[in-house]
Amino acid sequence: MSLSVYERDDILAMEKRYRAAFVNSLSGFKSANLLGTSDTSRQTNLCMVSSAFHLGSDPALMGIIIRPDVVPRDSLDNIRETGVYTLNHVQEAMVSAAHQTSARYPRGVSEFEQVGFTPLWRERINAPYVQEAAIRLGLILREEHTMAINGTHLLVGEIIEAHIPDCCIGKDGFIDIEQAGTVALSGLDSYHTTKSVGRLSYAKPDTMPEWLD
Ligand SMILES: Cc1cc2nc3c(=O)[nH]c(=O)nc-3n(C[C@H](O)[C@H](O)[C@H](O)COP(=O)(O)O)c2cc1C
Repeated sequence: MSLSVYERDDILAMEKRYRAAFVNSLSGFKSANLLGTSDTSRQTNLCMVSSAFHLGSDPALMGIIIRPDVVPRDSLDNIRETGVYTLNHVQEAMVSAAHQTSARYPRGVSEFEQVGFTPLWRERINAPYVQEAAIRLGLILREEHTMAINGTHLLVGEIIEAHIPDCCIGKDGFIDIEQAGTVALSGLDSYHTTKSVGRLSYAKPDTMPEWLD
């Protein structure tokens, strides 16, 4: 297989959209989540995010990266206003509508209505869940950091609710997100169903891990 090496200057010289597609592919498969928010008068907003990541389990923390607010960022404004948001896993049947939520709809237009998802409200949190999602998380904003290097915002959220189908939770707490139908993302627009290779035992220096059932 022939292989090319791209150096820093090659990447910087790429056409803007080409570079975005190229660099967005480099971190490997990413999660596909719908970020649900609302303002204090319950005007809802929904958008696709691929940047959600695990930050710690005690307390249960997740990070997301929001693009710089050089243009209006409805989700970011809503999160700053209410201090809460939801993350909703995307399943295969939801992919097209989920992707469409990334379109730049004007403020005041709800992506829920535009793409046909159903907002689900719960008492504890003033942000809409996506009813169609099998796995849903409610988060409270704990920290916001603006990155000096590129103006992106790192939002640190603590999970205050997790909605998980009973069939997908193992005895040891592992959640089988493949069974729940959660898809993965690569680049900016490529969606994937997954095929598990298997689970392995806790790695120790003196032995190789074993496959778990
Ligand atoms: C596959 C995909 C992944 C995305 N991931 C992110 C992300 O992690 N962070 C982000 O700020 N925007 C991300 N976007 C872009 C937002 O969905 C888009 O900017 C949206 O219009 C933001 O909505 P808002 O202005 O209402 O907040 C992604 C878009 C797509 C299609």
